[in-house]
Amino acid sequence: MKNKAFIFDLDGVIVDTAKYHYLAWRELANQLGFDFSHEQNELLKGVSRVRSLEILLDIGNVKLDQDEKEKYLHEKNEQYLKYIAKMDHSEILPGIDEVLHYLKRNQIPFALGSASKNARLILKTLNLLDLFDAIVDGNDVSTAKPDPEVFLIGADKLGVPAKECIVVEDAKAGIDAAARAGMTSIGIGDPDVLENADYNLINTNELTVDFVQKLIA
Ligand code: BG6
Ligand code: MG
Repeated sequence: MKNKAFIFDLDGVIVDTAKYHYLAWRELANQLGFDFSHEQNELLKGVSRVRSLEILLDIGNVKLDQDEKEKYLHEKNEQYLKYIAKMDHSEILPGIDEVLHYLKRNQIPFALGSASKNARLILKTLNLLDLFDAIVDGNDVSTAKPDPEVFLIGADKLGVPAKECIVVEDAKAGIDAAARAGMTSIGIGDPDVLENADYNLINTNELTVDFVQKLIA
């Protein structure tokens, strides 16, 4: 086995929080007088909170000044955190717990590479925080995915060269970031959306220990 490492995205890969981000953004859109579809939500996946609001406002053709933007960003996060507070271990996506523990047992290092500023809180809620060898989240980066910064910092923290890192992502922005970092990528979700991924899996059920073993063999 070569010295491989994994970098996992959080929302939509480790835990099913993508639906809560969607609900919170949709509530905001409705409050501002327009609707926000599942298809449009794809544009927000993997994207920072600030950039997500800009995309949402473009969709609704709504213009806000800076103070109003700050207010709505705060409101959206408060709403999102209400959903997160009710979350438990059962919302870890299928197969993830098993794969993380397999990597741990086999001393294959892994990091979190997430755009979320709530990442540590969520991992702590799920009792997963201590499992990770490194955490890089929205508080640690200056540029968001598809910029490769989040994954390059992750590789650095793990002490593994970028080309030996395997990124697991559900967002197009994340797959593009992995490619720009020179890393292998596994896209979780619609292969048409994630067409640039090196490997496509429909959902985390397909991210089995067997798949991981073959990949790093
Ligand atoms: C990403 C999500 O992981 O984190 C985005 O895919 C989200 O939808 C982004 O906007 C930022 O998250 P947070 O928790 O900092 O608002
Ligand atoms: Mg994601």
